[in-house]
Amino acid sequence: AQDLFVLGVETSCDDTAAAIIRRRPDGSCQILSNEVWAQHEDHAAFGGVVPEIAARSHVERLDSTIEKAVAVAGIAFDRLSAVAATAGPGLVGGVMVGLTTAKAIALAHDLPLIPLNHLEGHALSARMTEPAAFPYLLLLISGGHTQLIHVKSVGDYVRLGTTIDDAAGESFDKTAKLLGLGAPGGPMVEAAATGGRADRFDLPRPLAQRDGCDFSFSGLKTAVREAATNIESPSGQDVADIAASFQHAAARHLAQRTQKAMEILDPPIGNRRLVVAGGVAANCSVKNMLQKLCAANSWQLMVPPPKYCTDNGAMIAWAGAERIVAGMVPNPHDVMGLAPRA
Ligand code: KG4
Ligand code: ZN
Repeated sequence: AQDLFVLGVETSCDDTAAAIIRRRPDGSCQILSNEVWAQHEDHAAFGGVVPEIAARSHVERLDSTIEKAVAVAGIAFDRLSAVAATAGPGLVGGVMVGLTTAKAIALAHDLPLIPLNHLEGHALSARMTEPAAFPYLLLLISGGHTQLIHVKSVGDYVRLGTTIDDAAGESFDKTAKLLGLGAPGGPMVEAAATGGRADRFDLPRPLAQRDGCDFSFSGLKTAVREAATNIESPSGQDVADIAASFQHAAARHLAQRTQKAMEILDPPIGNRRLVVAGGVAANCSVKNMLQKLCAANSWQLMVPPPKYCTDNGAMIAWAGAERIVAGMVPNPHDVMGLAPRA
């Protein structure tokens, strides 16, 4: 067994990202570089991510971001084992920019190209920094997705629940917009909530009476809008109180649905390990609530450091390495994992 060196490219939303990781034969990971160019400023004037602008920004910045990742890692292209890139889901313009650039690099240096599902990148991200052994329960909370998944091994995922309306991160982003906090929404709400009273507004507990592990955030959004519009010219303290109340209600909802999944996956099916991933996993209030839930039920909680929770190239590179080791990269030149080639 040899060390694997993988370049990972991530362009599915508004982060232009590239990284190089090394996977050692013992399964440990060394992140040699992790370059992220966040596009927030490009989209700031529009109050949300504009797909057309995102795609163009990726075109402008991806080359230099990859060059920087290669320079920081000090690994020449010809020492790489493979190039991995997000192939979806995401904004199609950006995905095409990243995938095509990765394909060109792979062809030029005769390397295997590994097309990856963005969610698989998040799903395996905790294993870069901690020995998170399979199986585990994954709570994936990002701007586009909110899912509970039984991760049995690389490539073997059983979805237990998903959102029936907005994603968790989306609800943070919409709350930020409503409160006039600007982008990026999640961190802005978290910052605004500091010093706010989380019990001032009695916000709903979505799906509390419903079985299963699905999520719903649209009711919370409506309640936040009502709370905000009921106050004439809100003070800084009002905004802090609304942000804190929303954050608390969102964290409580995430924990309540996760508890349902824990009940399903108690031994002998699972082994009481909860992994959290995606941008919202960077939120301290969410982490604290999940920590309490895990402590009360004797579960182990694993959350990657914030920079590996939000979109990054390292998680894509790592998922590529995991796929190589699992023998899941059969044809090095099969771009979409579809056609066998003679
Ligand atoms: O995983 P990610 O970087 O991109 C997607 O795949 O969507 O997640 C981005 C989402 C955004 O909605 C952002 O507002 C949210 O994660 N987020 C946060 C925090 N940091 C990022 N939400 C709450 N608290 C945070 N600290
Ligand atoms: Zn993501």
